[in-house]
Amino acid sequence: MTGRGKFITLEGIDGAGKSTHLAWLVDFLRSRGRTVVQTREPGGTPLGEKLRELLLSEPMHLETEALLMFAARREHLERVIWPALERGDWVVCDRFTDASFAYQGGGRGLSHDKIQQLENWVQGGFQPDLTLLFDLPVEIAMQRIAGAARQLDRFEQEQRDFHERVRAAYLDRARQMPERVKVIDARMNCARIQNELENIFSTY
Ligand code: TYD
Repeated sequence: MTGRGKFITLEGIDGAGKSTHLAWLVDFLRSRGRTVVQTREPGGTPLGEKLRELLLSEPMHLETEALLMFAARREHLERVIWPALERGDWVVCDRFTDASFAYQGGGRGLSHDKIQQLENWVQGGFQPDLTLLFDLPVEIAMQRIAGAARQLDRFEQEQRDFHERVRAAYLDRARQMPERVKVIDARMNCARIQNELENIFSTY
């Protein structure tokens, strides 16, 4: 599609600091003259935000969890992401389908095959143009989460081995799709991470 904007997603285990880097990245891209739509998953639409509330607080079967993630995604694609890309805007999204493979797949143990079926159904062959995976050891991420002065959500409250499986699943995806998924060492300080992001986007 000529004239189509870029779809950039940010991923990482809870506590990897992606929200901070996302805010910086959006400002950076705007300073380069891009029109940027900043959004997040689960969420990004009125219905999606309601589903998010349920997903982050309500105990549920793992397949229900996956189905609701993809229900929110369907709405998000149709109402926000695809129209923005068609206009030529860039979309920067805090998490997308890699998170379903990492959390519902790696973390909860839902089969890759089932997630893939949902992915095919909901988005066809549509994929992010670029995914930034903020990676760091679970121990450090958990210390960061524990220091946060707010109530932890259902995923953040999971045990260490859950987060280890999520991290491993993310890294696995990066190994399988190195062209799309760029791993960023989230242990680095902000200045170095910003430097790396500038390098990545210099070729965009
Ligand atoms: P997160 O993006 O970490 O938001 P915040 O920075 O406000 O805490 O929270 C969203 C949670 O949803 C995160 O723990 C991962 C989870 N999630 C999934 O399990 N599957 C998905 O497909 C998506 C998009 C998110």
